[in-house]
Amino acid sequence: MGNETLMRKILDYGSRADPYPLYTELRKTPVCRQEDGSYTVSTYPELLALLHDPRLTSTHAEEEAAAGGQFPPAFIGMDPPEHDRVRSLAMRQFGPPHSPRLIEELRPSLETTVNGLIDAFPDGGELDLVDSFAYPFPVTAICRLLGVPHEDEPRFREWADALVASIDPRPGEDPSIRMQEGIETRKELAFYINELIDSGRSDTNGMLTRLARDHEAEGGPLSRLELVVTSVLLLIAGHETTVNLISNGMLTLLRRPDLFERLRREPEMAPRLVEELLRFEPPVQIIPRRGALTDIEIGGVTIPEGSVVALMLASGNRDPQRFRDPDHFDPDRSDIEHLGFGSGIHSCFGAPLARLEGQIALVELVRRLDNPRLLQDPPPYRSSAVLRGPRHLPVAFDGLRP
Ligand code: HEM
Repeated sequence: MGNETLMRKILDYGSRADPYPLYTELRKTPVCRQEDGSYTVSTYPELLALLHDPRLTSTHAEEEAAAGGQFPPAFIGMDPPEHDRVRSLAMRQFGPPHSPRLIEELRPSLETTVNGLIDAFPDGGELDLVDSFAYPFPVTAICRLLGVPHEDEPRFREWADALVASIDPRPGEDPSIRMQEGIETRKELAFYINELIDSGRSDTNGMLTRLARDHEAEGGPLSRLELVVTSVLLLIAGHETTVNLISNGMLTLLRRPDLFERLRREPEMAPRLVEELLRFEPPVQIIPRRGALTDIEIGGVTIPEGSVVALMLASGNRDPQRFRDPDHFDPDRSDIEHLGFGSGIHSCFGAPLARLEGQIALVELVRRLDNPRLLQDPPPYRSSAVLRGPRHLPVAFDGLRP
């Protein structure tokens, strides 16, 4: 199969349940030119090198402006030094060194949210774990962290679905159409956040308020526009991905009853299990658009200046050059430096929260569901190849444990 056809196949919905054999094929050409002139990078050493390479830009400012974008990018779409300034201002209200205990202190409230959702399950019967659990949990968590009122949470599903649909490459289609859809959705979200700040309806202890009032920070506080686009980024990045971590996690455990039972007996293995999930079934499979600022020689190929580069993280995570027996799910493996959170300056900002949410969710589901079974394997997947995970995860179970 030609390599261009391979990328089309990876993006094709028919491959969603198991794209991994296609990644194995793709790795035979670690840096590969596609029919539209873009490049895919699919092997671990080359991916790691490029994730740390300042010659690849994350900005799409010109394309966005051409497509009618009116807002500046959030820090995921910025390069240094602007990226570093905004990311470190946001980090002051999220993690070390300024807020070192914030995430761990969320544990009791995350456990309460999880058990509240499980208490609302029927006491046995059938259930969709995505709609009833994997989706609402991270949404509640990120909304609470930011200080978004609980009653507004249902509005995010539509926005998030539209944004996810706008990131996937669609072979043969003018990329500005996708971009336009994303711009429209981000605009609606930005207006919502702006109105939320003005109305004073947000929780004053939430990150939104703390970011707005951080006058002591060097280079801070964020301007209103920066605050709005940063909040939109956190709201969206902070839930679509974690939904997939939890549902991929339950799917993997239900396929492996030995591990399901082991997690029930040894909840302390949860951190290692979640790390292996991030390698084996990464919720972010592809970073679809980095841009070459100059000619870049890598993997025996020269990527010409101006090319679009897709970083195939999920493929790097299964690269046998880096991982022993990569297609085997093994939470006891020692070689665990996966690319599930990316790497380098853009590595996942929310990783500590995502890890904690994943660990709590899986431990509590395994503890409380009596004899759960998959009703459909593979389950139906969401359309995105980039943010990949089940759309529904129907299970049957015999009852709930206290
Ligand atoms: C399992 C869940 C998650 C996964 C797999 C994930 C994955 C990733 C990946 C691969 C990147 C790198 C993107 C790039 O290099 O362009 C990233 C960046 C980012 N993530 Fe996550 N993420 C998750 C959860 C979260 C959460 C919960 C939040 C927010 C609280 C979050 C916020 C961000 C932000 C703001 C960035 C941009 C960082 C930067 O550009 O400096 N993510 N994430």
